[in-house]
Amino acid sequence: MQKMLTASALGLALTLGAGVAVAAPDWSKVQGRTITVFYPGVSPIEWITKGTDHGGAKGLSKGESCAGCHDEETADMGKKMVTGQKIEPKPIAGKAGSIPVKVQAAHDGTNLYLRFSWKQPPGGAEKMDKDNQVKLAFMLEDNKIQRAELSGCWETCHRDARTMPEAKDDKKTKYVTGADVKQGAFYDLLQWTSKGAKHDGYVADKRVMEGGKGLVEAKGEKNGDEWVVVFTRKLAGGGEGDITMAPGKTYNFGFAIHDDYTIGRFHQVSLGYSLGIDAKADITAAKQ
Ligand code: HEC
Repeated sequence: MQKMLTASALGLALTLGAGVAVAAPDWSKVQGRTITVFYPGVSPIEWITKGTDHGGAKGLSKGESCAGCHDEETADMGKKMVTGQKIEPKPIAGKAGSIPVKVQAAHDGTNLYLRFSWKQPPGGAEKMDKDNQVKLAFMLEDNKIQRAELSGCWETCHRDARTMPEAKDDKKTKYVTGADVKQGAFYDLLQWTSKGAKHDGYVADKRVMEGGKGLVEAKGEKNGDEWVVVFTRKLAGGGEGDITMAPGKTYNFGFAIHDDYTIGRFHQVSLGYSLGIDAKADITAAKQ
């Protein structure tokens, strides 16, 4: 009896194990990198590039990246903005200024896998998006948009976009000046929401939340106070607004978390980083 039980338990374990192995890489083998996303306040690209506003405007114009200057201080930056000490006219009481997120990447020759994990920060503010406690989005850019390798997602962030204090049109989304989808000049955008939705879109002259064929799966769950979100994306892409990824190449990468039921600009964002497929980069997706 004992033997039989053990054998069937082993059989079950093997079956489950096989299922998991096909679906995702062994994350315990992927070192990853901790990236601290932070509350950006009102810092659109127009503010970033204006020397009298932003101390880094000159350095940026000379080719220094946001991460090059700020990577290790994003928690301090977030604190300044979230408390209203700097460039935030509407501070949200109790909101976290930053969230350290572990980012892991891998691929299997067909799919790119990206895993994000972080500890739920405090919240409790008024719910702007009552359906979603959390949303996580990332953008990929194939080295076609000018300055994207320095500034990451900031190229899509403008002072007249919805929810910004200077917005005149509450439908105006994020956009990229000089974007051209046919020429490959756009940001591929993938999003997961805690309600269970997933979106595969892009940002060009406006934000589009569908049309992509790259996203296979976006799954997230909360274990205790830790969120874990995993995306599976076809390297080949294949739809409108999908970049085509290949081993040996690097891409520009940035991500954002809308924590505590927020929308629009009230998110926590990363600076821009490079993502390499079997290539040296800030984050490398190695083959498993
Ligand atoms: C050459 C270095 C440099 C670069 C490149 C740079 N910055 Fe800055 N940034 C600064 C300095 C200096 C300040 C002012 C800090 C202060 O006043 O304490 C600043 C301030 C900021 C602030 C306001 C919060 C704060 O801590 O004062 C934000 C937000 C910011 N930068 C974002 C960015 C982003 C996004 C990029 C890239 C698009 C970028 N920076 C590129 C140097 C840089």
